[in-house]
Amino acid sequence: MPDDGAVLLTGGAGYIGSHTAVALLEAGREVVVVDDLSNSSPVAVERVRELTGADVGLHVVDVCDGAALDAVFAAHRITAVVHFAGLKAVGESVAQPLRYYAVNVAGTLSLLQAMDVAGLRRLVFSSSCTVYGSPGQAPVDESAPRGAASPYGRSKLMIEDILRDVAASDDRWEVMLLRYFNPVGAHGSGMIGEDPAGIPNNLMPYVMQVAAGHHPFVRVFGDDYETRDGTGIRDYIHVVDLALGHCAALASLAPGCDAVNLGTGRGHTVLEVIDAASRAVGREIPRQVVGRRPGDIAVTWADPAKAGRVLGWRAVRGLDEMAADHWRWQSKNPGGYEAQPRTT
Ligand code: NAD
Ligand code: WQD
Repeated sequence: MPDDGAVLLTGGAGYIGSHTAVALLEAGREVVVVDDLSNSSPVAVERVRELTGADVGLHVVDVCDGAALDAVFAAHRITAVVHFAGLKAVGESVAQPLRYYAVNVAGTLSLLQAMDVAGLRRLVFSSSCTVYGSPGQAPVDESAPRGAASPYGRSKLMIEDILRDVAASDDRWEVMLLRYFNPVGAHGSGMIGEDPAGIPNNLMPYVMQVAAGHHPFVRVFGDDYETRDGTGIRDYIHVVDLALGHCAALASLAPGCDAVNLGTGRGHTVLEVIDAASRAVGREIPRQVVGRRPGDIAVTWADPAKAGRVLGWRAVRGLDEMAADHWRWQSKNPGGYEAQPRTT
């Protein structure tokens, strides 16, 4: 299949999309971004251009707008799509399920229809370890039973099922479902990184905001789990490793629909993350143990063996590098990409 032409990144102005844009451009690919900027800034795309010296087309388009997508496909020679665009906050999805299903599920349908019309059927999709629900064991491999505890998680399950059905209906489709574990860190330049709107729910960005003085301490959600220090264990993966996983996935696309975990295969506790961040910052980050967060599982980490076999990829960056790079981004960009808060 053609490996030249442009890669369309929906949600390419976002956290993982912007890092993937850099990785693809550095690998010599052309990149086109579609993003409605509802959770990102155009400055991220400007920074990608600055970092790589490449011209990146940005179309401010909602993926639910099929006619606008048709125009994007008509304007560029696109040979593959990575579909990042979507809403991702678990708690918000419980309060706003219609919005989550509309953007995530209907947005994917709209994209698939536009791709079909354009005769382009090569897709990498941003799935999540959330599709494993409460896994019975760690590490978790791709054959583990799927389940989800939130509308966000169910939207990912639905999209995975839709993509399997579409690929089964027509063997011209080449689809890869990438199930990310916990992405953290930032590009080593400190020029692009995660820019959460409001107070972050995720551990690493919250820890970094404590280090920056925005909050007094990190709330450790429970220290009575059956783990080595009593706190929850997750598989944190450096966003640059994750981005390189997308390059490998694009190069490995083949007829059908396959699912691959992107994780490191190592689990770290909450206290280990706070300690790594403290080393990166050069002083102890304050923390206080509070009650468990409802809905949290105790332990999960990836079995990344299939990614090695199918993609020829593995994560190489450790927790200290994740924390150091995240801190560099945080300290160089205390207000995120823009001094002004986002209006959308
Ligand atoms: P992000 O919010 O930084 O990026 C998503 C991008 O999609 C944003 O730039 C946003 O503006 C855009 N977007 C949202 N709705 C859109 C719409 N209707 N039309 C066009 N663009 C739209 O999030 P991220 O962390 O980069 O996540 C990217 C993908 O990876 C998401 O699908 C997310 O569910 C998935 N994922 C993320 C994580 C994580 O912890 N960050 C883990 C697993 C999976
Ligand atoms: C990590 C650990 C918390 C914040 C979420 C989504 C999942 C996926 C990845 C998208 C847990 C603890 C956290 C804090 C804490 N995203 N924690 N204090 O819950 O593993 O997964 O992001 O697909 O779907 O659910 O990530 O970063 O929120 O939590 O103690 O202030 O840190 O209890 O053990 P999680 P997280």
